[in-house]
Amino acid sequence: MGTTALLRARPLALLLALFPPVATLAWSQSPSNKIGSEKAVPGHLADGEEYDLSLQALIAYGHKLFVARFTSEDGAGRPLTKGTGAPLSDPSGPLVFPRNFNRLSDPDSNSCAGCHDLPRPGGGGDMASHVFVLGQRFDFLTFDHDDAIPLRGAVDESGKFVTMANAFDVRKTIGMFGSGFIEMLARQMTADLGAERDGTPPGTSRTLWSKGVSFGILSHNADGSWDTSRAQGLSALSLVTDGAAPPSPILRPFAQASNVVSLRQLTVNALNQHLGMQAEERFGLGVDADGDGIANELTSADTTAITIFQATLPVPGQVIPSDPAVRSAILRGQQLFSQIGCATCHIPALPLTASSNPGMPGRPGWIYSEPSPYNPAGNLRPGPEDYPYAARRSASI
Ligand code: HEC
Ligand code: HEC
Repeated sequence: MGTTALLRARPLALLLALFPPVATLAWSQSPSNKIGSEKAVPGHLADGEEYDLSLQALIAYGHKLFVARFTSEDGAGRPLTKGTGAPLSDPSGPLVFPRNFNRLSDPDSNSCAGCHDLPRPGGGGDMASHVFVLGQRFDFLTFDHDDAIPLRGAVDESGKFVTMANAFDVRKTIGMFGSGFIEMLARQMTADLGAERDGTPPGTSRTLWSKGVSFGILSHNADGSWDTSRAQGLSALSLVTDGAAPPSPILRPFAQASNVVSLRQLTVNALNQHLGMQAEERFGLGVDADGDGIANELTSADTTAITIFQATLPVPGQVIPSDPAVRSAILRGQQLFSQIGCATCHIPALPLTASSNPGMPGRPGWIYSEPSPYNPAGNLRPGPEDYPYAARRSASI
């Protein structure tokens, strides 16, 4: 079962050892503790320990990480790394005070909940929490016309000076309520499209379908190459082909341009971009990629917990008032929504299919498991070979 076996029971004693008010007190009063030391998360979950926790305890720890206001002692900040995860364009200008925070190119926050907090952690955010998406490809945006280094602070990839109008896309903070269902839906649809692709022999074409949604036509040429020019609704990243290598064709349900496969991938991106907290599964075990003196800022067990916290947030519902006039207006709106074509894209219901468990075939029902079998490299993927080698090996791996 590898890293998917999260639902096993664990001894209560361990749970108490990890989440105890008493032990927290003991830590803060320990004489070996430096005076003035300030960590949001003094004790991390070691790799492998996630298997020993109940799902409830893992979610509670994920919530704790989601609201944690990380400090530089936790590893917040990234002196030598951009918000994309790449090294700075100009390593001679590290992102240390007063360049350690930048609202436009990030790091911009202390916690995930600094933005995602309406009406509670995991939700949307105020206007003040907008993200200036793509600003993070700059080291530190200054718009300073004395700076000619591409992607340092003023000049884009093509060598042009950027402005407030074209350096980034301003986006509202959206909520993650129901996002575990969205990811599960995308996994099931990806599995359908993958099976259709695999059933398209050279010299044939077929329409890609899943759950009543068409993704256009995929052609397998007689010479073995693939033609995706008539495919629709899939991210360009999922249509990449190379000679006989077929398109993936992975649905990427998250973020603005539908480029992100899983909550986990977005979480690892966001941790680095917004907070400068680098997950070991992306930046390497024991590696201090951002040059802040701290390695393994988040273990893979931590990343599983913070991901599962988001994946298990409840689905938003519709509250219909009892006032008959309002009630009938809502009903009329629902009819109009379909009549004028909104529902062709905003499909009212896309139920999950029983016995479709990508990554865990043969299981009855459907099971959301971590990590996604479709995660790209740089994110944890199922199977022991991809798990940090330092991890205590679970009996089930
Ligand atoms: C500065 C505000 C801000 C912070 C801090 C922030 N986010 Fe976000 N988040 C956003 C915005 C804005 C979007 C929408 C992005 C887009 O449209 O591309 C978003 C999108 C997301 C999504 C995608 C949801 C979807 O349905 O597409 C996830 C998941 C997410 N954030 C998780 C996190 C996590 C985990 C953290 C902490 C590591 C975090 N965010 C920190 C503002 C923020
Ligand atoms: C051709 C497909 C399509 C049609 C038709 C369509 N939408 Fe959308 N709609 C989208 C997409 C895609 C987004 C997300 C856009 C983004 O994040 O930039 C969206 C976003 C929205 C949002 C914002 C949701 C949010 O969480 O911020 C609302 C509200 C909305 N649409 C309402 C409507 C209504 C009302 C109609 C009919 C008049 C409609 N849409 C028709 C594709 C469509």
